[in-house]
Amino acid sequence: MNPKQKKEKKKTLAITGNPGVGKHTVAKLVADRLGPQTVTIDLNKLAIEHGAILKKTPRGLDVDVKKLARLVRERVRVSAGNNNDVLIVGHLVPYVVRPVDVDLVAVLRRSPYELVKTFAARRYSAEKSRENAASEILGVVFSDAFKAFGRRKVAEFDTTGRTPDKTADEIIQMLNKLLQKRAGVVDWLAMVAEKGDMQKFFDLGLKKGRKERMNDKGK
Ligand SMILES: Nc1ncnc2c1ncn2[C@@H]1O[C@H](COP(=O)(O)OP(=O)(O)OP(=O)(O)O)[C@@H](O)[C@H]1O
Ligand SMILES: [Mg+2]
Repeated sequence: MNPKQKKEKKKTLAITGNPGVGKHTVAKLVADRLGPQTVTIDLNKLAIEHGAILKKTPRGLDVDVKKLARLVRERVRVSAGNNNDVLIVGHLVPYVVRPVDVDLVAVLRRSPYELVKTFAARRYSAEKSRENAASEILGVVFSDAFKAFGRRKVAEFDTTGRTPDKTADEIIQMLNKLLQKRAGVVDWLAMVAEKGDMQKFFDLGLKKGRKERMNDKGK
């Protein structure tokens, strides 16, 4: 067969990261760039629409990851059969996507100082905001993605102070192998420690809250 006639292999890209880093904003722009033949799999939506929710908690939805993984596998299989590019979006990517089913996993990172502003706009409670920011500082989703997919498939994108368009452009360049992968380049922990803000993001029990001070007075 003439190699020119050979169909180009369609790509599967995943965009993940901790809550609030900009996954859905960037994913929409990436999908526009990939074109109308792209199938977007939004993990939150898929879980809700197909009853892969175990329970609702104050921290968010408790997802049945086994069921969601099955749903994802099935959708990826159908999309590959239809020769569509696939874009999978959500913080659960490391736990529900098989490494063989994905070419590139883009992990978005964002400064915890910006994240807390997003959480305030979403009216998260102080505890939920702190927990989510702490999770980003520790790079939980990044490290789980790295463990699940390995060095060759995972790339980190620091979105801090960049427009979502710029991040989307970089992801497309990387998917087309025009940009080298970078991973392990973000270190929020060092930044937060240097600014003396560990207590702000981690409950270290250093300062007593109002309630605790009131209790002390009563003793
Ligand atoms: N550089 C950036 N890239 C992407 N989003 C950004 C950026 N800067 C600010 N934002 C803003 O961050 C907010 C959170 O974005 P978005 O809802 O896409 O995050 P998410 O990762 O999908 O969150 P969740 O995990 O809760 O679904 C939005 O208001 C978005 O406009
Ligand atoms: Mg989102």
